[in-house]
Amino acid sequence: VKKAVTEVPGALPVHVAIIMDGNGRWARERGKPRSAGHREGAKALNRLVPASIELGIKYLTVFAFSVDNWRRPSAEVSFLMGLLRRYIRAETPTLVEKGVRLRVIGDVSRLSEALQAGIARALSETAAGDKLNLTVALNYGGQEDVVQAARRIAAKVEKGILRASAVDKIVFEAELLSAGLPPVDLLIRTGAEMRLSNFLLYQCSYAELYFTEKYWPDFGKEDLAEALREFARRERRFGSLRKEE
Ligand code: FPP
Repeated sequence: VKKAVTEVPGALPVHVAIIMDGNGRWARERGKPRSAGHREGAKALNRLVPASIELGIKYLTVFAFSVDNWRRPSAEVSFLMGLLRRYIRAETPTLVEKGVRLRVIGDVSRLSEALQAGIARALSETAAGDKLNLTVALNYGGQEDVVQAARRIAAKVEKGILRASAVDKIVFEAELLSAGLPPVDLLIRTGAEMRLSNFLLYQCSYAELYFTEKYWPDFGKEDLAEALREFARRERRFGSLRKEE
């Protein structure tokens, strides 16, 4: 029997994080405006959600907007914000139906009231989802995440409800925006760049890194399956020696 091309044998990552890069270049190569690339990028995410469930991923975290993306031209920022608002509104029923629980990490206080309200509604409507945990990083920065965790811990120490000597990784991780999510096992970046761009810095400490030249709008289920096969081929040692040594 011929195996389906998307079958993935071996170890599966529990938590996959994706830097969805290359929307702009995808559009430019087609003579289209950057907004068309972002629209196509949203469609790619729509395909990746059911694909992740089918391939057995439990946690999927995507970088939708970084703290540094405000530096883009204001028309592009507004377009992305509008796209996110429409995406969340339009896709929430599908997420509920597919058993997806949505989370958002990042400083949402800088987003418009309408977007914040849409997020709040989507979070509560999807709260019972148990097939896939989809986390959207929105106005997120990895360094900012670590700094806000440190600030919250300092405040607890100041109030006398926590001893400085009691601060360990478990205490620290509970203050990160990702509290409750497992560590990232596999970080995928599309779009031919090889950097972390201030994504989940602490959370990716032992993540396998996977880079592909494909632009995000072209990334599909088979590309995810290929990344999972590569993950299964790698031997994760977490700082220890190889098995035979
Ligand atoms: C990178 O492409 C992508 C982004 C800055 C935003 C990611 C947004 C989406 C995939 C669409 C909307 C998301 C959701 C959750 C609905 P780029 O513009 O940096 O591409 P370039 O490097 O080719 O210019």
